[in-house]
Amino acid sequence: MASDDTSRTFALGGELPINRIGYGAMRLTGQPGNFGPYANREGGKALLRHAVELGVNFIDTARSYGPGWNERLIAEALHPYADGLVIATKGGVDKRGPSEIVVDGSPAVLRSQVEDALTALRIERIDLFQLHRVDPAVPVEESVAALDQLRHEGKIRLIGLSNVDQDMLDRALTVAPIASVQNRLNRAERGDEALVDYTAERGIAFIPYGPLGAHPMQQGAALPAQDALEWLLARSPNTVVIPGTTSAKHLAENMRI
Ligand SMILES: NC(=O)c1ccc[n+]([C@@H]2O[C@H](COP(=O)([O-])OP(=O)(O)OC[C@H]3O[C@@H](n4cnc5c(N)ncnc54)[C@H](OP(=O)(O)O)[C@@H]3O)[C@@H](O)[C@H]2O)c1
Repeated sequence: MASDDTSRTFALGGELPINRIGYGAMRLTGQPGNFGPYANREGGKALLRHAVELGVNFIDTARSYGPGWNERLIAEALHPYADGLVIATKGGVDKRGPSEIVVDGSPAVLRSQVEDALTALRIERIDLFQLHRVDPAVPVEESVAALDQLRHEGKIRLIGLSNVDQDMLDRALTVAPIASVQNRLNRAERGDEALVDYTAERGIAFIPYGPLGAHPMQQGAALPAQDALEWLLARSPNTVVIPGTTSAKHLAENMRI
């Protein structure tokens, strides 16, 4: 990737500058299935602090990681948050067991999840709240309108989407500004490359999850980490990578590229 400062940062929503190498916190939860508290809580907190020391200022989490345990661990490790540290969370999915998820994008559930995330993260406004999945039973416009209402109330700063196609994004954009799209993409799984370009043209961040090719229940990545991250960063100026690791050695490797 190019080494100038501009290419290493992205202005989320045009207003929040973030380092394009962030950190995905999902694996700091109970295993298997990202369910329950992370077994090594002190180690997890130390890793999160180390990530920030190494320059991470964008951390991705979700209500469903734990559920709740991941957000609370982030708060225990990093609150009060450093200036400029952006925490992104997600809602619209509830986790009831290691392999049991319930998708619910209804306005009432999104509101209660935003309130729960504010409490867990110990903040008054969420920098980026992402609709984790579109609920097939709720039109995307309705879920996004609910998030936009929370944005107007000052509880959310920016709205993001996850696991969407272009049609869902277009429909969401008729209701509210969308700052980011988080979909699965890596050098070996390129199904959403057109959406990378589509979002880039609109100033929307594309946050590829599973950047190293690992699947949620899998231990260990499938692709060589540095090459995989470099490919994503070089692919388009709007990609923001969120490699997930439980290892200080891997964290340093991921940040050094
Ligand atoms: N929106 C969604 O639906 C969704 C779904 C899944 C994930 N996500 C987000 O995406 C983030 C990343 O996804 P992910 O954790 O599933 O996949 P990933 O980042 O592609 O891979 C993580 C795996 O790679 C290993 N790893 C990390 N750095 C490495 C390195 N330098 N060398 C070798 N192995 C390395 C990790 O093991 P070690 O712990 O041993 O380093 C872990 O097993 C998550 O934290 C979450 O925030 C979002």
